[in-house]
Amino acid sequence: MEYYSPRNCKELMDKYKTNEDGLYHLTTERGVVYQTYCDMTTDGGGWTLVASVHENNIDVWDCEAATSDDYKNPGYYDITAEDVSVWHVPNNVLLQNWSIDAFLCYHTDNHFLTNHGGNLFYLFKKFPVRSRAGTCRINNGPSIPVVYDTGDAASTRNLYGPSARGEFEAGFITFRACNQEMAAMAICSGVKATGCNTEHYCIGGGGFFPEGAPRQCGDFTAFDWDGYGTNTGWSASRKITEAAVLLFYR
Ligand code: G3P
Ligand code: CA
Ligand code: CA
Repeated sequence: MEYYSPRNCKELMDKYKTNEDGLYHLTTERGVVYQTYCDMTTDGGGWTLVASVHENNIDVWDCEAATSDDYKNPGYYDITAEDVSVWHVPNNVLLQNWSIDAFLCYHTDNHFLTNHGGNLFYLFKKFPVRSRAGTCRINNGPSIPVVYDTGDAASTRNLYGPSARGEFEAGFITFRACNQEMAAMAICSGVKATGCNTEHYCIGGGGFFPEGAPRQCGDFTAFDWDGYGTNTGWSASRKITEAAVLLFYR
C-alpha cells in the first residue's frame, strides 16, 4: 500500500490532484505527521499554512504571555519553499471563513526564499530577531515586493497609524526590521520600513524594547502607542490589531 504522505500543499496538489482548500495531513522529511490548512486557490494554490501571529493582550506586562497562542507547525522548519503568502484574518474567525473574512492578503512571486535557505527558519538564522541586532534602516533584512490578492497598497497604508505612514512604503513584506533603540521585529506586513519607529507597523518583536518599557512588549509591539485601535498618531487600526497574521509557504 502506498503511503499518502505529501510534504507540503503544493505536492499534495501536483501529485494527488487535490484542489480544495482545507485541512490536510502532511509529513516532514523525518516522518512527523501534522495537520494544517492548504490554500489551493490563491494564484493557482499549493500554499501551506506554517505559522500564525496574533496579539492576545496588547497591554501585557508579562512578555511571555504575549506569544502564548502563536503557532508554528513542523512545516515552518521542514518545507523548502520559494515564496510566502500572508493573510490578515480577524481573531476568532472559524477556519471555513478565513478566506472570506481575510481583509488583507498578498503573496510574493520572485522566489526570494531560494536565496535565504528555502524557508523563514533559515532566513531568520541569517537575520536574527533579537535586541541590538542592528541599526534601523541600515541592517534590516530583505524587503520583498508583493502581489495583492485582497486589498491593495492604499488599504494597507491605512491599516497603520498616520504618523507611521511617513516611514514606510506599502507593497512589500520586510523581514527583520530594526528600530531606533536597536530592537528587532520579525515582519513588517505589507510594507517596506524606511524609518526608525518600526514598532508601530512591524510585528513579532524579539528581546527588550527600551522605549517606554514595557509598553512595546508583545507581538504587536507598539500598535497601541497612541491608544488601542485608534488609528491616530502612531496607533494602528483596530482592524489590524485584532487580526491574526497567517503565514503560508509555497
Ligand atoms: O515611536 C514613536 C516615538 O518614538 C515618538 O513618539 O510619543 O514622542 O510622539 P512620541
Ligand atoms: Ca500573540
Ligand atoms: Ca519609537
